[in-house]
Amino acid sequence: MNKKIKQRRFSIFRYNPQTPEVKPFMQEYFLDDLAGMTIFVALNNIRETQDPSLNFDFVCRAAICGSCAMLINGKPRLACKTLTSDLKGDIVLMPLPVFKLLGDLSVDTGSWFREITIKTQAWIHTESTFNPELTELPMENSLANEIYEAERCIECGCCIAGCVTANLRENFLGAAGVNKVARFIIDPRDRRETRDYFEIIGSDDGTFGCMSLMACEDNCPMELPLQKQLSFVRRKMLFHGLGKS
Ligand code: FES
Repeated sequence: MNKKIKQRRFSIFRYNPQTPEVKPFMQEYFLDDLAGMTIFVALNNIRETQDPSLNFDFVCRAAICGSCAMLINGKPRLACKTLTSDLKGDIVLMPLPVFKLLGDLSVDTGSWFREITIKTQAWIHTESTFNPELTELPMENSLANEIYEAERCIECGCCIAGCVTANLRENFLGAAGVNKVARFIIDPRDRRETRDYFEIIGSDDGTFGCMSLMACEDNCPMELPLQKQLSFVRRKMLFHGLGKS
């Protein structure tokens, strides 16, 4: 029996910063809603069969690279992980806010995350020099798992785009930035002290700017415990600020 295939209406943000004389607008496309279709597949289909000028990003198609994040019906999500069948009615696609718009649905999250990496000095600070002859230093499994948990961030920007503070404060570090800091605080190989971190994140642009609205954790496609990391880092900074560390 031939089941009737439903058509879906896609309303997609269009704007090219290279041609500012053409104002931003929403463009409509119609597509058969096929079983198991993700937003990523739908966008590719539209680009291949209807409009080759449509701009959006992807690399892995498997929720690993973080490049296909966008606002899907108002919520920051990964296009390659979101099924059209999970969305009701028309599908509205917009670029992530906060990040620099490159065109249509494509934004520059890379520069933002590079800046955060530099600002938080997200690398192991140690005085020991690397010796390839030595065997690896052992680490407790539980600690390795804790570090790995923070490392699971794919830097998609969903937590930043959904964060009220990040939308208001240009230099706010956001949950992804604080998560990076938490990762190095718990790593015993990093010799930095709390006061070193306080210099970087002990302000309203750092951990004290968070309003605990939980949007970061709600929007994280990797389900990272971002609020837990935020409270862990905030507590450390607070105690240091009060002279208790
Ligand atoms: S394409 Fe890589 S996360 Fe979606």
